[in-house]
Amino acid sequence: MSTRPLVRVGIIGGGLMGREAASAFARWFALENFPVRVELTAVCDLQPALLDWFRTIPSVRLLTADHRALLASADVDVVYVAVPHHLHEAIYLDVLRAGKDLLAEKPFGIDLAAARRIRDEAVRLGRFVRVSSEFPFLPGAQRALQLVAQGGLGRVLEIRSGFVHSSDLDPTKPINWKRQNQFCGEAGVMADLGLHAVHVPLRLGWKPASVYAQLQKIYATRPDGKGGTAVCDTWDNATLHCVTQVDGQPVPMTIETKRMAPTETNTWFIEILGTDRGVRYSTKEPKTLWTYRRDKEQWWEKTDLGFAMPFKTITGGIFEVGFPDLLMQMWAAFIAERAGLLDGRFGCATPDEAVASHEIWAAALESHRTRQVVPTP
Ligand SMILES: NC(=O)c1ccc[n+]([C@@H]2O[C@H](COP(=O)([O-])OP(=O)(O)OC[C@H]3O[C@@H](n4cnc5c(N)ncnc54)[C@H](O)[C@@H]3O)[C@@H](O)[C@H]2O)c1
Repeated sequence: MSTRPLVRVGIIGGGLMGREAASAFARWFALENFPVRVELTAVCDLQPALLDWFRTIPSVRLLTADHRALLASADVDVVYVAVPHHLHEAIYLDVLRAGKDLLAEKPFGIDLAAARRIRDEAVRLGRFVRVSSEFPFLPGAQRALQLVAQGGLGRVLEIRSGFVHSSDLDPTKPINWKRQNQFCGEAGVMADLGLHAVHVPLRLGWKPASVYAQLQKIYATRPDGKGGTAVCDTWDNATLHCVTQVDGQPVPMTIETKRMAPTETNTWFIEILGTDRGVRYSTKEPKTLWTYRRDKEQWWEKTDLGFAMPFKTITGGIFEVGFPDLLMQMWAAFIAERAGLLDGRFGCATPDEAVASHEIWAAALESHRTRQVVPTP
């Protein structure tokens, strides 16, 4: 019998992300000397076929279509909720009021007001809450964070960060909830992809002070999947031209979130350029870290990255990193921080960071409406 404490997890929403989380728990033993055990005990989804999928996991003892039944279970300590955005607020509040801790999916409520209500209730009840954002656990992202922490960038000149894909270029792709404001939120692609793009800048203290937004709706309708046509009313692409403060100086920052970025599958990137040093990293070339240095000449140096993860695993140091690895690292950070064992490693996005991201999207929507530069709160 292991003496390591056990955290029992329940999942509400067993779709794309709920199943990814289950796969991270199923190979928890790959984490080396991790101080806490994790077990998936309960799953809630409305679709019987998905519940059947979870039936094959031996530790799952409760399968239900009623999230309140899951929350009433004494067999659940932490709940991961991965449902459409219009359901975030009601279900997250139910989780908190049931006395459970929460790993929430982004965007953490359908809009800014919802995000603030969830954050405030978590604070009032003293629950441990973090928000899903896995890309900063990439070795390349970690190296960018380290470079900034070391100093030596000189005067920061500009920052670019983004998360873009091309899944929506095909106009015959049927509509889903992420392409409709009533389910996704008025912020559209920013709500969907934005926290991924701003998590690292926010952690570095680089919240935009003002935003000028260029938002695009590209296809107004899509097949509804039943032989008809449905209105597709979310913003597809968003480019935000921002100004942030770095060392007391205004610095331009560009944030891109796009569903129609030709040739990109799931590309997360960050670029930070200073007068003396800089860094550029993109999942387009996931092993490649570019660092800039100014000497007598100016250099871009290319480093081949291995499996340098914040939480050590059995995986060989020269092997490649994939999406499931990032998700597992994010979960390890959540569980470690909850147990007070993060030990200086990178932590998951906080409710305050999620609220800050919504403040940027709200300013972006106003900027697009008014064609003005809009300050963030
Ligand atoms: N972190 C990431 O990289 C990432 C990636 C994709 C999606 N997401 C986020 O995860 C969340 C879910 O997205 P997804 O892509 O997994 O969606 P999905 O549509 O694949 O899954 C959502 C699931 O929720 C279930 N559901 C709906 N209402 C429910 C209810 N009342 N009770 C229980 N289950 C219910 C649906 O049946 C469905 O299986 C969203 O917030 C999304 O933004 C995060």
